[in-house]
Amino acid sequence: MNVVNSRKNFIFSGYDTVELAKKYGTPLYVISKEVIKDKCKEIRNDFLYKYDNTKAVYAGKAFLTMAMCRIIEEEGLGLDVVSGGELYTAIKADFPMRDVIFHGNNKSTDEIKMAIENNAGRIVIDHMDEISMIEDIASNFNKKVKVLIRVTPGVNSNTHKYISTGQRDSKFGVPIDNIHEVVSKTLCSEHIELMGFHFHIGSGLYENVSHISAVKALLKIIKIIKDDLGFITKELNTGGGFGIYYTKKDCVKPISYYTDSIMETLYKYCNELDLDIPKVTIEPGRWIIGEAGITLYTIGAIKEIPGIRTYVSVDGGLPDNPRPALYEAKYEAVIANKYNEKPEMIVTIAGKCCETGDILIHDLSVPEVCKGDVLVVISTGAYNYSMASNYNKLPRPAVVLLDEDEEKIIVNRETYDDILKNENMI
Ligand SMILES: Cc1ncc(COP(=O)(O)O)c(C=O)c1O
Repeated sequence: MNVVNSRKNFIFSGYDTVELAKKYGTPLYVISKEVIKDKCKEIRNDFLYKYDNTKAVYAGKAFLTMAMCRIIEEEGLGLDVVSGGELYTAIKADFPMRDVIFHGNNKSTDEIKMAIENNAGRIVIDHMDEISMIEDIASNFNKKVKVLIRVTPGVNSNTHKYISTGQRDSKFGVPIDNIHEVVSKTLCSEHIELMGFHFHIGSGLYENVSHISAVKALLKIIKIIKDDLGFITKELNTGGGFGIYYTKKDCVKPISYYTDSIMETLYKYCNELDLDIPKVTIEPGRWIIGEAGITLYTIGAIKEIPGIRTYVSVDGGLPDNPRPALYEAKYEAVIANKYNEKPEMIVTIAGKCCETGDILIHDLSVPEVCKGDVLVVISTGAYNYSMASNYNKLPRPAVVLLDEDEEKIIVNRETYDDILKNENMI
């Protein structure tokens, strides 16, 4: 996929990245539809078609635009949203609402109303109070709402603490100790139909052990709930969190590495505990979109501090990719217009923000670089555009989608006027 052309430029998904930078300017997010489709195909072949009664939903928080909704719909996946804004994007994109799962640890009344009014397929209850919020709104609409309960399974995962969510001390989900009362209350609600349970234990996981432990923990709960309350769990949503390639250190696994172990654990323990096999849903975000995205920058100031390091600054940084500053995320990058030249120096890629912490990459090996070169940071599809800000009043980059034979701007580059559009002068 990533090759060089006769001009030695870096080619991504069949497109010359230097030409893209010239045509659309930088910084620029570039997304490959081909990569997204390949990922979805793998999910279909190795999970959905392999196991009965399964479903895959894309976690929109990783990257959500109306165009992305359309691709996900075409690929036959559902959509997980976590806010009124994400829900609104899905509605505006005409995404089938029955395939939408609405999450969130602090959903507002308006957000729940929007979800129920538009017939979102599932609402995931995160805490006790939400039950009466949903019940009240659903009864006003005279609807019965299908829900899952998010459980915090008390499982640690091997990832950065900011993206670990399955441990007991988490703001997400119902702690195991409180499940009984939350289920009881849900079952007493006239306008709520409990379908089952959900867990998401963390993001960027390269081992399947936490998923296996979480499935076991959930099945124990499902058994207790069945024995005590007579509730038969119809659905188990096992979240996302599957790791992707960022740097050579990442030992990336196919989707089946996770899903086979989830399904094997499920079959084994359902059999042992005499439980019906629930429908299993997975919810990957990063795994679908992460490697489908790259970011193009133009190199500007180059500052050598003798005996210490060389800073190579680019025309974006923390506002278009806060992940390195937020949780020390690591990235690889290439100089697109010198792609097959030998590395000659080790540099630090700095963003243009007024923040010492705005460093995109430490110790990157590059050929002799100069002002005007195009830097391509790879695997930026997930949690870059979606986490972008206007810090330092920098306009957010455009997003270009590479389709089979043409590229399309799916998000326009922001202008200075866009940045000021909600401000009022006094
Ligand atoms: C509930 C839920 N599902 C799915 C995901 C997607 O995680 P990832 O992008 O790592 O697959 C997240 C991420 O935070 C999440 O909170």
